[in-house]
Formats: sequence, structure tokens, C-alpha cells
Amino acid sequence: MNTTGSIPADAFSIRSAFGRRAIGLSVAAAVGGFLFGFDSSVINGAVDSISQDFAINDVLTGFVVAIALLGCAVGAILAGNLSDRWGRLRVMFIGALLFFVSSLGAGLAFSVWDLALWRVVGGLGIGIASVIAPAYIAEIAPRQIRGGLASLQQLAITLGIFAALLSDALLAGAAGGADNVLWLGLEAWRWMFIVGVIPSAVYGILAFTLPESPRFLLAKGRTDEARTIFAQLVPEADLDHTIRDLQTAIESDRKNAGVSLRGPVLGLQRIVWVGIILSVFQQFVGINVIFYYSTSLWQSVGFDESNSFAISVATSVTNVLVTLVAIFLVDRVGRKPILLTGSVMMALSLGLMAIAFLFAVTDSAGEVVLPAPWGPIALVAANVFVIGFGASWGPLVWVLLGEIFPSRIRGKALGVAAGAQWIANFLITISFPAMSSWSLPLTYGMYATFAALSFFYVLLRIPETKGMDIEQTETLFTHKGAKTD
Ligand code: BGC
Repeated sequence: MNTTGSIPADAFSIRSAFGRRAIGLSVAAAVGGFLFGFDSSVINGAVDSISQDFAINDVLTGFVVAIALLGCAVGAILAGNLSDRWGRLRVMFIGALLFFVSSLGAGLAFSVWDLALWRVVGGLGIGIASVIAPAYIAEIAPRQIRGGLASLQQLAITLGIFAALLSDALLAGAAGGADNVLWLGLEAWRWMFIVGVIPSAVYGILAFTLPESPRFLLAKGRTDEARTIFAQLVPEADLDHTIRDLQTAIESDRKNAGVSLRGPVLGLQRIVWVGIILSVFQQFVGINVIFYYSTSLWQSVGFDESNSFAISVATSVTNVLVTLVAIFLVDRVGRKPILLTGSVMMALSLGLMAIAFLFAVTDSAGEVVLPAPWGPIALVAANVFVIGFGASWGPLVWVLLGEIFPSRIRGKALGVAAGAQWIANFLITISFPAMSSWSLPLTYGMYATFAALSFFYVLLRIPETKGMDIEQTETLFTHKGAKTD
């Protein structure tokens, strides 16, 4: 390969050594996204057994599922600061350790209270992984292929959700039910948590084998080490340029360390609110009710346990596949049409679920069932909802959060928007068990309303950012009324 003078167009293709190395490192770092997906939804198959075994009510059940998400918010905030001080890899290792310990602790929990504690510990790990993986990928990726590599994170999250739901289903299947003893006198639901030690160990080992982020090394003045790592990732012709650009960016970050997010709209700059509102809509359509509670949701309307597990796995496969569609479309069609289409699909399918749940009846055995054709209609609608979300708001909110903020506030603003997302997720997750026992149609009617509102918000407030230099996107928001004051 010609490594001097101009950079060959195929220097970063999958077949080139540079492209392959960057992809390899990004895939390894995206294991963090996998853990994010795995740990946040592994509870799905265990919820019902936990509430039975520990004899807890709906409010406490919601609390045990949701409490991990508060740990996530704290983990995400801490990860940014700690990784600037100690390096990305050390913090990655701490995340792996927290996952490992919480998987064992939750699996061996003796009461609902220590289970909640282990969930918070795991949440800290998820929060750390949710920040470290995208940061590390962005920092090692050559700028020519950064967008594609950054999308690996969402793909990894969806694969993690799939792996968790599949492993829940297999373990429950092997024991003949989530509540039955599987191995060593422990019930299947406990093993659902314990198997989390495997991806945690892989993540921990990776933390020892990956090279440190060259951006971190440069910020610490370890220029020679950074150069050696970059030499593996960018052609020699691009090396000095890359290092110089990075040094300028690090310098400007240092100067902006004191810049605040404060502004005139309820104390914050308008653009920060755009990030927060996008995050809140992404969660208020109720997506994680599907990924955390679907097995119990389907049982509550009359599907048997093994069918409910199978439906959850199928839904998570759909989620992975449509993420690939979004990755393919995002730089071709643009952000706005995809978000608008997603909002329409979500509003209609959620509305249909709300209507279907109106027809639930109690049969002669006292069980709640959805008589035909409403059972299959609810199922199809739930999967259309996941398709609508997974091909639009799921990945695109993360893409937009990465590109709408000007660099002088990007780090902090992203932290606030991601924090808002974890808190919105927490509110939906903690309220679902109680709300759904009160009225499933009203609960889904509420999610449908948020999906409809998200359509108008995007239509009126979100300009197209496709193909723009990320330092210019801010001006678009100024013209559309979502000003950065
Ligand atoms: C969201 C998660 C959600 C996942 C589903 C992500 O974009 O941040 O909360 O579980 O999508 O695929």
C-alpha cells in the first residue's frame, strides 16, 4: 500500500489493514454495548419469579427492575471524569468487575433488598459501558469511517438484549419453568443473572488486551505512545495531521473546561433541551417495557410461559435486524424522514395495542386472556412497534446526540442528555407494573400519545443534519428556532 503522499481511497476499507484494525478494536470496545443490552434486559425472564419468590407487590417489583437505571445514570456521569483521569481501559476494567460481581450477587440474592443493591452495582457498570464504548470507538476510529464504527454501539446493545432474552428462554426451558430448580439447587431465574459472568469476564480480559486510547495518551503528554498506536490505525501520510488535529481539539477542550450549559430556557441553553427532549421521547414511547417486561406482559394476557419467552426472543431478533436497516439508511435518506416515519409507525402500533388490550377477558379458570383475533393483533402490533423504534428513534437519537452539540459543550451536554435518558427510562420502568395492573389500555394509550407528540416535535423543531460537518449543525438549530443562546 502507498503510505506516503495522498491517502488511497481504499485505505480504510474492510479489506485494508488499517480498516481491519480499527474495526477489530471497535468491535472489542462495543462489547461494552453488548453488556449494556444484556444486563439491562436480563431481568425480563426473571421478573415474575422474583415477585413470586420474594412475595413482593407491583410497586416493589417495578422498583427492583428500575433501580438499576439510577445506577446507570451515576455510572455514566462518573465514567467521563474517571476515564479522563485514569484512562479508558482502567475504567473499562472497573465496569467489567462491577458487572461480574452484580451477576453473581443478583443470582445468589437472599432478599429483595440485596437484589436491589446488586442491580444498582450492575447499573453502575452499564452506565460506565454506555459512555466508555462510544468514547473509545470515536477516539481510535480514523475520521473517514467514524460514523459507521460509531453505529456498532447500538448494534451491540441490540445483540446484548437478544443474547439475554435467548439465554433466559433457554434456561427457563431447560428447567421446565423460570421458577424451577436448574443446577446446584438454584432456580433457573437465578442462573439467568449468573451467566452474565461470561460476557463480563470477556469484557474484563479485553480491557487488558486493547491498546489505550491515543487521545487519552496525548492528553497526558504521552505523545510517543500515542503515535505508536496511531501508526497502526492511520496511514503514515495522515499521521502528523491526525495527531495535530487531536492536540488542537484537546487544547480547545481544556480552554472550554469552564464553559457552562446554562442558558435562558429554564436555566439551560436551548440546544441542551433539544437533546433532553429527544432522549425523553425515545424512552416515553415505552420501548423498554417490551425489553424488560415482555415475558410477563404476554403471560398477563394469556400466552403460556414458554410461548411468552419465545415471543420475547423473536422480538429481540427483529430489533437487531432493523438496526442494520437504520445503519444503512441514516446517511442516505437523512435523519428527519426516518424519525418521522418511526413516530407514525410507533403511534399507530401502540394505539392498536391499547385497543387490543381493551378486549382482555377473564376466563372460567379466572385467568386473563386476549380472545382471537386480539391476541395475534397485539402481538403483530408490538413487533411493528419494535420495527418502528429500532429502525428510527433507537439508533438515531444516539446519532443526533453525537452531532447536534457544538464541541465547546459536547461532552457535558451529551452527559446531561444521556442522564435524562436513563432517568426517563427509570420513570417508565418503575411505573409499568402498577400502571399495567390498573389499566393496560390506558398505559399503552399514554405511550401512543408520546409517540404522536414526538412526530410533531421532530416536524417543527428538528432540522436535517445529514452530511453536515458537525461543527456546523449548531447554526441549523439557530435558524429553526431551537437556538443555542
Ligand atoms: C436505548 C435503550 C433501548 C434500546 C433498544 C437504545 O437506543 O437507549 O434504552 O433498550 O435502544 O434497542
